[in-house]
Amino acid sequence: MEVHNVELTISAVKPEQYPDKDFPEIALAGRSNVGKSSLINTLINRKNYARTSSQPGKTQTLNFYNVEEQLYFVDVPGYGYAKVSQKEREKWARMIETYFSTRQELRGTINLVDARHEPSELDVQMIEFLHYYNIPVLVVGTKIDKIPKSKRNKVESQIKKKMHLNKNDHLVLFSAVDKTGKKEVWDWIEKMAIK
Ligand code: GTP
Ligand code: MG
Repeated sequence: MEVHNVELTISAVKPEQYPDKDFPEIALAGRSNVGKSSLINTLINRKNYARTSSQPGKTQTLNFYNVEEQLYFVDVPGYGYAKVSQKEREKWARMIETYFSTRQELRGTINLVDARHEPSELDVQMIEFLHYYNIPVLVVGTKIDKIPKSKRNKVESQIKKKMHLNKNDHLVLFSAVDKTGKKEVWDWIEKMAIK
């Protein structure tokens, strides 16, 4: 999709605040600092529209970005940031459980993992949770610019194995720096959300 118009419609924490237009939604989930906001910026050809930061755990709300009056990207706050209190963690869990288990407009979730490291237990839990709710999943291995081309096949098979990807899951290696994988990610989004 050629993107010109994007608008942060709302930062929501509960269903009453979700947008009421019934555009299809694509959520982005992954541990904090994995590159969710950077992926959104790359997809919409902006430098820093979805706020990126080197400070993890910044985003604490579900941020709905309206893209071309056609779909929403939903930036989900990252998990696994050590300095977040138990109470905050429980609040996060309730918020995402509510969203993923009830949202009719949700067409699929992009589950980001840092390609430089083996997926963590939390990454595995996230994809199991998405499978449990039968939500279509695209796994995106981020920061691939940091990995030499000769090692990328190995990274791919490691993610597939560790995340227990099944035949319906897709995997794309991605870089917000050199835009590797941008087209593949858009192809998947268009297949899931635009018919
Ligand atoms: P939270 O909102 O805190 O959960 O983080 P996030 O997942 O939105 O991550 P964000 O996009 O803010 O990126 C975190 C850091 O990683 C920033 O310093 C980015 O510049 C960097 N980063 C993101 N994507 C890439 C990438 O593809 N390559 C490289 N080299 N750095 C990246
Ligand atoms: Mg973010």
